[in-house]
Amino acid sequence: MENLCIVGLQWGDEGKGKVVDYLADGFDSVVRFNGGSNAGHTVVVDGSRHVFHLLPSAALKSKNLLIAAGVAVDPDVLSEELSLVKRYRTRTVVDFRATVVSPLDKMMDVMVEELRGPSAIGTTRRGVGPAYALRAFRLSPRIADIITDSLDMASMRNFYSKFLPKVPDMEDWQRKSRILLKKIAGNVSDVINEINEKGGAVLFEGSQGTLLDLLYGTYPFVTASGTLSNYVPESVGVPPNRVGDVMGVAKCYATRVGSGPFPTETDKEDAAKIRNEGNEYGSTTGRPRRIGWLDMVSLKYAVKINGVKRVSLTKLDVLSKLKRFKICEAYSVDGEETEDFARCLPKIDEVRPVYSDGWTIRGEFDRNRMGGSVQRLIDYIEERLRVDVKLVSWGEDRSMTYER
Ligand code: IMP
Ligand code: MG
Repeated sequence: MENLCIVGLQWGDEGKGKVVDYLADGFDSVVRFNGGSNAGHTVVVDGSRHVFHLLPSAALKSKNLLIAAGVAVDPDVLSEELSLVKRYRTRTVVDFRATVVSPLDKMMDVMVEELRGPSAIGTTRRGVGPAYALRAFRLSPRIADIITDSLDMASMRNFYSKFLPKVPDMEDWQRKSRILLKKIAGNVSDVINEINEKGGAVLFEGSQGTLLDLLYGTYPFVTASGTLSNYVPESVGVPPNRVGDVMGVAKCYATRVGSGPFPTETDKEDAAKIRNEGNEYGSTTGRPRRIGWLDMVSLKYAVKINGVKRVSLTKLDVLSKLKRFKICEAYSVDGEETEDFARCLPKIDEVRPVYSDGWTIRGEFDRNRMGGSVQRLIDYIEERLRVDVKLVSWGEDRSMTYER
C-alpha cells in the first residue's frame, strides 16, 4: 500500500475533509501538511457535522493524527480541537519543528489587512501569514522552543512592539501552550518512516487549494504556505518519491473566499442560488463565498502542477438544482483564445472566460450507479484533464459518495 496525497484543485473548500474521512480506512495515519487554523475541513456522519481547522480530518475514523513541521500551529485552537476528539481512539503527534502561531501573529494579521486598505487580501485573520513571515525572520518559536523555553521570546516581542500598539503579556499563554505541546510533540517524519517500513501507508491532507499557493497561485491573493503536492516532502520530512499518488479534489463549480481574481465568477442571481443550495459560507470565518462556474483552464493547470492522476468530484447535488450550467473551456485575452493558465497569470484580471453552455445534471444519485447526465460530466472531465474520476460526492454526508 502506497502513501496518497490529497490536494485541492481550486481555491479551497473543494470538500477535502469529506474525501479524507472517506478514504482514511486504508491508511495508518493522516498527516496535515500545510497552512494552519485558516483551514476548515468538514466531515458529516449521520447528520452530525464536525469541522477541523488544525487536526487532520480522520479523528472520526480513529486514525493517528499527525501535524507536520510545515504547518503553522496555534496551540489555543489545537487544545480546543483535541478536547472535541477526546472520545475517539486517536493519537496525535505534532512535529517539534513546526512553527507556533502566537496571539501576536493574530493581532499582526488584522493590522496588515487594515494597512492594505482597499487591496486587503481578506485573510482569515488566524495569524498564519505573520507566523510564517516571522519564521523567515528567524523570530517565531517552534513547538520545541515553547516546550524547552529556549527561544529568546524577548526578540519576538521587541519586533512586534515596533508595530503593535500594545504587546500583551504572554507568560500565561506560554505556560498553557507548554503543558499542551509537551504531551503531543514528536518527530513526525520518523513516525511516517516507521509506518512505511512496516508496510503501512499514510494519507497526506492538504488544506486550501492550488490557486491559493504562495508561489503558484493568484499572488498576492493567496495564502502564506505551499498548498501543492510538491510541498509535502519539505513539510513532512520525507523524500519526494514517498509522496505517493496525488488525488485532486474539485467541486463541480468554483468558490473563493476573500479578495482576488476569479475569472468565472457568476452574476449575483446564480451566486445566490448556488450559495444557498451549497451552503457556501466559510467554515472558518462564516463569510459568504464568492461563486463561479467550473473552470477547466485553471483545473488543467492544477492537475499538471500537482501531478494529479485521480480526481474526486464533489457537490454534484448543488448543480442538479439548476436548470442548466456553464463550463469555462478557455480564456480570451488580447484577442486570442488560450487554455494556458500560467501564461495568463500575470494578467489574470483581464481574461474573459469562454463557456460551453447548456450543461445539466439530473438528480440521479446512487451509491451503485450514476445517471446518464452525471456520467457525461465525468467522461468530459476525464477526457479533458486526462485523469480518473474515482469518487463522486453528492451531499455532505459520508454515505453520499459513489466510488468508481
Ligand atoms: P490566510 O490564509 O488567512 O492568510 O488568507 C489568505 C487567503 O486565503 C484569503 O483569501 C482566505 O480567504 C483564503 N483561505 C485561507 N484558508 C482557506 C481555506 O481553508 N479555504 C478557503 N480559503 C482559504
Ligand atoms: Mg474549507
